[in-house]
Amino acid sequence: MHPLLAFLLLHIITTASAAQLRPGFYRETCPEAEFVVREVLKKALIREPRSVASVMRFQFHDCLVNGCDASMLLDDTPTMLGEKEALSNINSLRSFEVIDEVKEAVERICPGVVSCADIIIMAARDAVALTGGPYWEVRLGRLDSLTARQEDSNQIMPSPRSNASSLIDLFSKYNLSVKDLVALSGTHSIGQARCFSIMFRLYNQSGTGRPDPAIEPKFRANLNKLCPPSVDQNVTGDLDATPRLFDNQYFKDLVAGRGFLNSDQTLFTFTETRKFVELFSKNQAEFFMALVEGMLKLGDLQSNQPGEIRRNCRMVNGRHVNTFWES
Ligand code: HEM
Ligand SMILES: *[C@@H]1O[C@H](CO)[C@@H](O)[C@H](O)[C@H]1NC(C)=O
Ligand SMILES: *[C@@H]1O[C@H](CO)[C@@H](O)[C@H](O)[C@H]1NC(C)=O
Ligand SMILES: *[C@@H]1O[C@H](CO)[C@@H](O)[C@H](O)[C@H]1NC(C)=O
Ligand SMILES: *[C@@H]1O[C@H](CO)[C@@H](O)[C@H](O)[C@H]1NC(C)=O
Repeated sequence: MHPLLAFLLLHIITTASAAQLRPGFYRETCPEAEFVVREVLKKALIREPRSVASVMRFQFHDCLVNGCDASMLLDDTPTMLGEKEALSNINSLRSFEVIDEVKEAVERICPGVVSCADIIIMAARDAVALTGGPYWEVRLGRLDSLTARQEDSNQIMPSPRSNASSLIDLFSKYNLSVKDLVALSGTHSIGQARCFSIMFRLYNQSGTGRPDPAIEPKFRANLNKLCPPSVDQNVTGDLDATPRLFDNQYFKDLVAGRGFLNSDQTLFTFTETRKFVELFSKNQAEFFMALVEGMLKLGDLQSNQPGEIRRNCRMVNGRHVNTFWES
Protein backbone atom coordinates (compact mmCIF):
# COMPACT_ATOMS: atom_id res chain seq x y z
CA MET A 1 0.00 0.00 0.00
CA HIS A 2 1.17 3.53 -0.80
CA PRO A 3 2.40 5.20 2.41
CA LEU A 4 0.18 8.22 1.86
CA LEU A 5 -2.87 6.01 1.51
CA ALA A 6 -1.85 4.13 4.62
CA PHE A 7 -1.56 7.40 6.49
CA LEU A 8 -4.93 8.59 5.23
CA LEU A 9 -6.54 5.30 6.14
CA LEU A 10 -5.07 5.36 9.62
CA HIS A 11 -6.10 8.97 10.06
CA ILE A 12 -9.70 8.33 9.09
CA ILE A 13 -9.93 5.21 11.22
CA THR A 14 -8.52 7.02 14.23
CA THR A 15 -10.91 9.88 13.69
CA ALA A 16 -13.78 7.45 13.49
CA SER A 17 -12.87 5.34 16.50
CA ALA A 18 -12.15 8.34 18.69
CA ALA A 19 -15.63 9.74 18.09
CA GLN A 20 -16.54 11.25 21.42
CA LEU A 21 -20.28 11.15 21.85
CA ARG A 22 -21.71 14.20 23.57
CA PRO A 23 -24.97 16.06 24.12
CA GLY A 24 -25.56 18.96 21.77
CA PHE A 25 -23.24 17.56 19.11
CA TYR A 26 -25.25 19.31 16.36
CA ARG A 27 -25.76 22.59 18.26
CA GLU A 28 -23.70 24.54 15.72
CA THR A 29 -24.00 22.38 12.58
CA CYS A 30 -27.72 21.55 12.75
CA PRO A 31 -29.43 23.20 15.70
CA GLU A 32 -32.91 22.16 14.54
CA ALA A 33 -32.07 18.46 14.21
CA GLU A 34 -33.58 17.20 17.46
CA PHE A 35 -36.71 19.30 16.95
CA VAL A 36 -37.21 17.94 13.44
CA VAL A 37 -36.80 14.33 14.57
CA ARG A 38 -39.36 14.91 17.27
CA GLU A 39 -41.89 16.44 14.85
CA VAL A 40 -41.66 13.50 12.41
CA LEU A 41 -42.07 11.04 15.28
CA LYS A 42 -45.14 12.92 16.50
CA LYS A 43 -46.71 12.60 13.05
CA ALA A 44 -45.83 8.90 12.88
CA LEU A 45 -47.43 8.34 16.27
CA ILE A 46 -50.70 9.89 15.07
CA ARG A 47 -50.66 8.02 11.76
CA GLU A 48 -49.88 4.62 13.27
CA PRO A 49 -49.35 4.39 17.04
CA ARG A 50 -47.35 1.17 16.84
CA SER A 51 -44.76 2.66 14.49
CA VAL A 52 -42.94 4.52 17.25
CA ALA A 53 -42.51 1.26 19.18
CA SER A 54 -41.15 -0.36 16.03
CA VAL A 55 -38.66 2.49 15.65
CA MET A 56 -37.60 2.41 19.27
CA ARG A 57 -36.72 -1.28 18.82
CA PHE A 58 -34.14 -0.24 16.19
CA GLN A 59 -31.80 1.01 18.89
CA PHE A 60 -31.48 -2.50 20.31
CA HIS A 61 -31.02 -4.25 16.97
CA ASP A 62 -28.58 -1.61 15.76
CA CYS A 63 -26.41 -1.09 18.84
CA LEU A 64 -25.94 -4.75 19.79
CA VAL A 65 -24.55 -5.64 16.37
CA ASN A 66 -21.17 -3.89 15.87
CA GLY A 67 -22.23 -0.82 17.81
CA CYS A 68 -24.73 1.94 17.03
CA ASP A 69 -23.82 2.53 13.40
CA ALA A 70 -27.13 2.21 11.52
CA SER A 71 -25.83 -1.00 9.92
CA MET A 72 -29.28 -2.55 10.28
CA LEU A 73 -30.78 0.16 8.05
CA LEU A 74 -28.74 -0.88 4.99
CA ASP A 75 -30.70 -2.64 2.27
CA ASP A 76 -29.15 -5.77 0.78
CA THR A 77 -27.13 -5.27 -2.41
CA PRO A 78 -25.96 -7.85 -4.96
CA THR A 79 -22.65 -8.01 -3.10
CA MET A 80 -23.84 -7.51 0.47
CA LEU A 81 -26.26 -9.58 2.51
CA GLY A 82 -27.19 -7.11 5.26
CA GLU A 83 -28.99 -7.41 8.57
CA LYS A 84 -32.55 -6.83 7.41
CA GLU A 85 -33.13 -10.48 6.57
CA ALA A 86 -31.37 -11.82 9.65
CA LEU A 87 -33.26 -14.26 11.88
CA SER A 88 -34.48 -11.69 14.42
CA ASN A 89 -35.26 -9.03 11.83
CA ILE A 90 -36.96 -10.67 8.85
CA ASN A 91 -40.76 -10.19 8.77
CA SER A 92 -40.33 -8.47 12.11
CA LEU A 93 -38.48 -5.14 12.00
CA ARG A 94 -40.79 -2.55 10.51
CA SER A 95 -41.43 1.20 10.13
CA PHE A 96 -38.17 1.85 8.28
CA GLU A 97 -40.16 4.52 6.39
CA VAL A 98 -40.31 6.63 9.57
CA ILE A 99 -36.50 6.83 9.64
CA ASP A 100 -36.53 7.67 5.91
CA GLU A 101 -38.91 10.54 6.61
CA VAL A 102 -36.76 11.84 9.44
CA LYS A 103 -33.66 11.64 7.28
CA GLU A 104 -35.32 13.49 4.39
CA ALA A 105 -36.53 16.22 6.73
CA VAL A 106 -33.09 16.59 8.33
CA GLU A 107 -31.30 16.56 4.96
CA ARG A 108 -33.54 19.41 3.80
CA ILE A 109 -32.33 21.71 6.59
CA CYS A 110 -28.69 20.58 6.90
CA PRO A 111 -27.56 18.15 4.22
CA GLY A 112 -24.80 15.67 4.99
CA VAL A 113 -24.51 16.53 8.68
CA VAL A 114 -26.66 14.24 10.83
CA SER A 115 -25.91 10.50 10.83
CA CYS A 116 -28.57 7.81 10.54
CA ALA A 117 -27.06 6.19 13.64
CA ASP A 118 -27.80 9.35 15.64
CA ILE A 119 -31.29 9.55 14.15
CA ILE A 120 -32.06 6.08 15.55
CA ILE A 121 -30.88 7.21 19.00
CA MET A 122 -32.96 10.41 18.93
CA ALA A 123 -36.02 8.63 17.54
CA ALA A 124 -35.88 5.89 20.19
CA ARG A 125 -35.71 8.52 22.93
CA ASP A 126 -38.62 10.44 21.40
CA ALA A 127 -40.71 7.26 21.03
CA VAL A 128 -40.40 6.67 24.77
CA ALA A 129 -41.08 10.29 25.71
CA LEU A 130 -44.06 10.66 23.35
CA THR A 131 -45.80 7.57 24.73
CA GLY A 132 -45.60 8.62 28.38
CA GLY A 133 -42.08 7.54 29.36
CA PRO A 134 -39.13 9.59 30.58
CA TYR A 135 -37.19 12.12 28.50
CA TRP A 136 -33.42 12.22 28.54
CA GLU A 137 -30.60 14.06 26.85
CA VAL A 138 -28.91 11.87 24.23
CA ARG A 139 -25.20 11.78 23.42
CA LEU A 140 -24.59 12.26 19.68
CA GLY A 141 -21.80 12.21 17.11
CA ARG A 142 -21.98 8.66 15.69
CA LEU A 143 -21.02 7.70 12.16
CA ASP A 144 -22.88 5.35 9.82
CA SER A 145 -21.30 2.05 8.87
CA LEU A 146 -20.01 1.35 5.38
CA THR A 147 -21.29 -2.21 5.43
CA ALA A 148 -23.48 -4.77 7.22
CA ARG A 149 -23.45 -8.52 7.65
CA GLN A 150 -26.46 -10.75 8.13
CA GLU A 151 -24.28 -13.31 9.87
CA ASP A 152 -23.27 -10.82 12.59
CA SER A 153 -26.88 -10.23 13.53
CA ASN A 154 -27.70 -13.95 13.43
CA GLN A 155 -24.87 -14.70 15.82
CA ILE A 156 -25.72 -11.99 18.32
CA MET A 157 -29.41 -11.20 18.56
CA PRO A 158 -31.27 -13.19 21.26
CA SER A 159 -34.22 -15.44 20.50
CA PRO A 160 -37.61 -14.88 22.16
CA ARG A 161 -37.08 -18.38 23.61
CA SER A 162 -34.11 -17.19 25.65
CA ASN A 163 -34.08 -17.72 29.40
CA ALA A 164 -32.88 -15.08 31.85
CA SER A 165 -29.48 -16.67 32.46
CA SER A 166 -28.57 -16.64 28.77
CA LEU A 167 -29.80 -13.03 28.49
CA ILE A 168 -27.70 -12.06 31.53
CA ASP A 169 -24.65 -13.63 29.82
CA LEU A 170 -25.34 -11.87 26.54
CA PHE A 171 -25.86 -8.45 28.10
CA SER A 172 -22.77 -8.81 30.29
CA LYS A 173 -20.65 -9.03 27.14
CA TYR A 174 -21.71 -5.43 26.51
CA ASN A 175 -21.14 -4.37 30.11
CA LEU A 176 -24.89 -4.20 30.58
CA SER A 177 -25.86 -5.26 34.10
CA VAL A 178 -28.73 -7.46 35.25
CA LYS A 179 -30.57 -4.28 36.19
CA ASP A 180 -29.92 -2.86 32.70
CA LEU A 181 -31.29 -6.08 31.17
CA VAL A 182 -34.53 -5.92 33.13
CA ALA A 183 -35.00 -2.18 32.58
CA LEU A 184 -34.27 -2.42 28.85
CA SER A 185 -36.68 -5.35 28.50
CA GLY A 186 -39.22 -2.92 29.98
CA THR A 187 -39.30 -1.24 26.55
CA HIS A 188 -41.70 -4.08 25.74
CA SER A 189 -44.11 -1.77 27.53
CA ILE A 190 -44.96 -0.58 24.02
CA GLY A 191 -45.55 -2.48 20.80
CA GLN A 192 -46.48 -5.92 19.58
CA ALA A 193 -45.04 -9.31 18.64
CA ARG A 194 -46.07 -12.10 16.29
CA CYS A 195 -47.61 -15.46 17.11
CA PHE A 196 -44.47 -16.82 15.44
CA SER A 197 -42.51 -15.67 18.49
CA ILE A 198 -44.62 -17.60 21.01
CA MET A 199 -45.91 -20.77 19.28
CA PHE A 200 -43.32 -23.00 20.96
CA ARG A 201 -44.23 -21.52 24.31
CA LEU A 202 -47.94 -22.16 23.87
CA TYR A 203 -47.69 -25.70 22.53
CA ASN A 204 -44.24 -27.21 23.00
CA GLN A 205 -42.10 -25.43 25.59
CA SER A 206 -38.55 -26.89 25.60
CA GLY A 207 -39.79 -29.85 23.53
CA THR A 208 -42.11 -31.06 26.30
CA GLY A 209 -45.23 -31.03 24.12
CA ARG A 210 -46.73 -28.81 26.86
CA PRO A 211 -47.15 -25.04 27.31
CA ASP A 212 -44.83 -22.96 29.45
CA PRO A 213 -46.14 -23.56 33.01
CA ALA A 214 -45.29 -19.94 33.94
CA ILE A 215 -48.21 -18.59 31.85
CA GLU A 216 -51.24 -17.65 33.94
CA PRO A 217 -54.15 -19.91 32.77
CA LYS A 218 -56.66 -17.21 31.74
CA PHE A 219 -53.96 -15.36 29.85
CA ARG A 220 -52.93 -18.60 28.18
CA ALA A 221 -56.51 -19.15 27.03
CA ASN A 222 -56.41 -15.69 25.41
CA LEU A 223 -53.09 -16.44 23.73
CA ASN A 224 -54.39 -19.80 22.48
CA LYS A 225 -57.33 -17.97 20.94
CA LEU A 226 -55.05 -15.39 19.32
CA CYS A 227 -52.56 -17.99 18.11
CA PRO A 228 -54.22 -21.38 17.49
CA PRO A 229 -51.88 -24.04 16.05
CA SER A 230 -53.04 -23.32 12.49
CA VAL A 231 -52.75 -19.51 12.77
CA ASP A 232 -51.07 -17.20 10.25
CA GLN A 233 -48.00 -16.66 12.41
CA ASN A 234 -47.74 -13.05 11.30
CA VAL A 235 -50.77 -12.26 13.47
CA THR A 236 -49.66 -9.98 16.30
CA GLY A 237 -50.53 -9.53 19.97
CA ASP A 238 -49.72 -6.81 22.49
CA LEU A 239 -46.48 -7.04 24.46
CA ASP A 240 -48.24 -5.79 27.57
CA ALA A 241 -51.77 -4.77 28.62
CA THR A 242 -51.16 -1.09 27.70
CA PRO A 243 -49.20 -1.33 24.41
CA ARG A 244 -49.49 2.36 23.51
CA LEU A 245 -48.45 3.65 26.88
CA PHE A 246 -44.87 3.63 28.11
CA ASP A 247 -45.37 2.69 31.76
CA ASN A 248 -44.53 -0.09 34.23
CA GLN A 249 -47.57 -2.22 33.31
CA TYR A 250 -45.18 -4.66 31.59
CA PHE A 251 -43.65 -5.53 34.97
CA LYS A 252 -47.05 -5.86 36.66
CA ASP A 253 -47.98 -8.27 33.86
CA LEU A 254 -44.84 -10.34 34.45
CA VAL A 255 -45.63 -10.63 38.17
CA ALA A 256 -49.11 -11.86 37.19
CA GLY A 257 -47.72 -14.46 34.74
CA ARG A 258 -48.93 -12.41 31.80
CA GLY A 259 -45.69 -11.82 29.94
CA PHE A 260 -46.02 -12.26 26.17
CA LEU A 261 -42.61 -13.61 25.20
CA ASN A 262 -40.72 -16.36 26.98
CA SER A 263 -37.80 -13.92 27.23
CA ASP A 264 -40.14 -11.57 29.13
CA GLN A 265 -41.69 -14.05 31.56
CA THR A 266 -38.34 -15.64 32.34
CA LEU A 267 -37.27 -12.38 33.99
CA PHE A 268 -39.77 -13.13 36.73
CA THR A 269 -39.09 -16.87 36.85
CA PHE A 270 -35.36 -16.49 37.52
CA THR A 271 -34.27 -15.20 40.93
CA GLU A 272 -31.41 -12.96 39.69
CA THR A 273 -33.81 -10.86 37.62
CA ARG A 274 -36.99 -11.22 39.68
CA LYS A 275 -36.04 -8.63 42.29
CA PHE A 276 -35.80 -5.94 39.61
CA VAL A 277 -39.10 -7.01 38.05
CA GLU A 278 -40.72 -6.69 41.48
CA LEU A 279 -39.10 -3.33 42.14
CA PHE A 280 -40.12 -1.85 38.78
CA SER A 281 -43.65 -3.27 39.06
CA LYS A 282 -44.11 -1.31 42.30
CA ASN A 283 -42.12 1.79 41.48
CA GLN A 284 -42.37 3.33 38.05
CA ALA A 285 -39.88 6.09 38.89
CA GLU A 286 -37.21 3.45 39.61
CA PHE A 287 -38.00 1.82 36.26
CA PHE A 288 -37.72 5.11 34.39
CA MET A 289 -34.37 5.96 36.00
CA ALA A 290 -32.94 2.53 35.23
CA LEU A 291 -34.30 2.68 31.69
CA VAL A 292 -32.58 5.99 30.95
CA GLU A 293 -29.29 4.62 32.26
CA GLY A 294 -29.69 1.45 30.20
CA MET A 295 -30.58 3.32 27.02
CA LEU A 296 -27.56 5.61 27.42
CA LYS A 297 -25.24 2.63 27.93
CA LEU A 298 -26.77 0.77 24.98
CA GLY A 299 -26.38 3.92 22.87
CA ASP A 300 -22.71 4.25 23.78
CA LEU A 301 -21.73 0.94 22.14
CA GLN A 302 -19.44 1.74 19.22
CA SER A 303 -17.88 -0.30 16.47
CA ASN A 304 -14.50 1.43 16.01
CA GLN A 305 -14.94 0.87 12.28
CA PRO A 306 -14.61 3.66 9.73
CA GLY A 307 -17.84 5.43 8.90
CA GLU A 308 -19.56 8.25 7.09
CA ILE A 309 -22.69 10.40 7.21
CA ARG A 310 -25.01 8.55 4.84
CA ARG A 311 -27.21 10.66 2.58
CA ASN A 312 -29.80 7.91 2.40
CA CYS A 313 -30.03 5.61 5.42
CA ARG A 314 -30.65 2.57 3.23
CA MET A 315 -27.39 2.74 1.26
CA VAL A 316 -23.79 3.84 1.59
CA ASN A 317 -22.71 7.03 -0.20
CA GLY A 318 -21.12 7.30 -3.65
CA ARG A 319 -19.44 4.36 -5.26
CA HIS A 320 -15.89 5.79 -5.04
CA VAL A 321 -16.01 5.64 -1.24
CA ASN A 322 -16.88 1.99 -1.50
CA THR A 323 -14.03 1.19 -3.85
CA PHE A 324 -11.64 3.06 -1.63
CA TRP A 325 -12.44 0.90 1.39
CA GLU A 326 -12.67 -2.31 -0.56
CA SER A 327 -9.23 -1.79 -2.09
C1 HEM B 1 -33.71 -8.81 26.25
C2 HEM B 1 -33.72 -9.36 25.06
C3 HEM B 1 -34.80 -9.10 24.05
C4 HEM B 1 -35.44 -10.04 23.33
C5 HEM B 1 -35.23 -11.54 23.38
C6 HEM B 1 -36.40 -9.34 22.50
C7 HEM B 1 -37.23 -9.95 21.59
C8 HEM B 1 -38.25 -9.33 20.92
C9 HEM B 1 -39.18 -10.00 20.05
C10 HEM B 1 -39.14 -11.48 19.72
C11 HEM B 1 -40.08 -9.08 19.61
C12 HEM B 1 -41.26 -9.32 18.68
C13 HEM B 1 -40.76 -9.71 17.32
C14 HEM B 1 -41.83 -10.30 16.45
O1 HEM B 1 -42.58 -11.17 16.91
O2 HEM B 1 -41.89 -9.91 15.26
C15 HEM B 1 -39.72 -7.82 20.20
C16 HEM B 1 -40.39 -6.64 20.01
C17 HEM B 1 -39.98 -5.43 20.51
N1 HEM B 1 -38.78 -5.19 21.16
FE1 HEM B 1 -37.58 -6.58 21.96
N2 HEM B 1 -36.32 -8.00 22.73
C18 HEM B 1 -35.35 -7.79 23.66
C19 HEM B 1 -34.91 -6.56 24.11
C20 HEM B 1 -35.35 -5.35 23.64
C21 HEM B 1 -34.73 -4.09 23.88
C22 HEM B 1 -33.45 -3.89 24.69
C23 HEM B 1 -35.49 -3.14 23.25
C24 HEM B 1 -35.31 -1.65 23.16
C25 HEM B 1 -34.26 -0.98 23.57
C26 HEM B 1 -36.61 -3.82 22.66
C27 HEM B 1 -37.67 -3.20 22.02
C28 HEM B 1 -38.72 -3.85 21.43
C29 HEM B 1 -39.93 -3.21 20.99
C30 HEM B 1 -40.29 -1.74 21.19
C31 HEM B 1 -40.72 -4.18 20.39
C32 HEM B 1 -42.08 -4.01 19.71
C33 HEM B 1 -41.85 -3.61 18.28
C34 HEM B 1 -43.09 -3.45 17.41
O3 HEM B 1 -44.20 -3.33 17.91
O4 HEM B 1 -42.90 -3.44 16.18
N3 HEM B 1 -36.48 -5.16 22.88
N4 HEM B 1 -38.59 -7.99 20.98
C1 LIG C 1 -30.95 -21.36 29.64
O1 LIG C 1 -30.76 -21.43 28.23
C2 LIG C 1 -29.49 -21.95 27.86
C3 LIG C 1 -29.35 -21.75 26.36
O2 LIG C 1 -30.46 -22.25 25.68
C4 LIG C 1 -29.38 -23.39 28.31
O3 LIG C 1 -28.13 -23.93 27.94
C5 LIG C 1 -29.54 -23.43 29.82
O4 LIG C 1 -29.55 -24.76 30.27
C6 LIG C 1 -30.81 -22.73 30.29
N1 LIG C 1 -30.73 -22.58 31.72
C7 LIG C 1 -31.69 -22.96 32.54
C8 LIG C 1 -31.41 -22.83 34.00
O5 LIG C 1 -32.77 -23.38 32.16
C1 LIG D 1 -16.56 -3.37 29.10
O1 LIG D 1 -15.75 -2.79 30.11
C2 LIG D 1 -14.40 -3.20 30.04
C3 LIG D 1 -13.69 -2.68 31.27
O2 LIG D 1 -14.01 -1.35 31.51
C4 LIG D 1 -13.80 -2.71 28.72
O3 LIG D 1 -12.46 -3.12 28.62
C5 LIG D 1 -14.60 -3.28 27.57
O4 LIG D 1 -14.13 -2.75 26.34
C6 LIG D 1 -16.07 -2.96 27.72
N1 LIG D 1 -16.78 -3.69 26.70
C7 LIG D 1 -17.70 -3.10 25.92
C8 LIG D 1 -18.37 -3.97 24.90
O5 LIG D 1 -18.00 -1.93 26.01
C1 LIG E 1 -41.83 -30.58 20.35
O1 LIG E 1 -40.45 -30.31 20.24
C2 LIG E 1 -39.66 -31.48 20.22
C3 LIG E 1 -38.19 -31.06 20.32
O2 LIG E 1 -37.94 -29.88 19.64
C4 LIG E 1 -39.97 -32.23 18.93
O3 LIG E 1 -39.18 -33.40 18.85
C5 LIG E 1 -41.44 -32.61 18.95
O4 LIG E 1 -41.80 -33.23 17.74
C6 LIG E 1 -42.33 -31.38 19.15
N1 LIG E 1 -43.69 -31.79 19.38
C7 LIG E 1 -44.71 -31.27 18.71
C8 LIG E 1 -46.07 -31.73 19.10
O5 LIG E 1 -44.56 -30.42 17.84
C1 LIG F 1 -45.30 -13.49 7.13
O1 LIG F 1 -45.45 -12.68 5.98
C2 LIG F 1 -44.33 -12.73 5.12
C3 LIG F 1 -44.47 -11.71 3.99
O2 LIG F 1 -45.65 -11.01 4.07
C4 LIG F 1 -44.15 -14.12 4.57
O3 LIG F 1 -43.06 -14.18 3.69
C5 LIG F 1 -43.89 -15.05 5.75
O4 LIG F 1 -43.77 -16.38 5.31
C6 LIG F 1 -44.98 -14.93 6.80
N1 LIG F 1 -44.48 -15.59 8.00
C7 LIG F 1 -45.14 -16.51 8.66
C8 LIG F 1 -44.47 -17.05 9.88
O5 LIG F 1 -46.24 -16.90 8.31
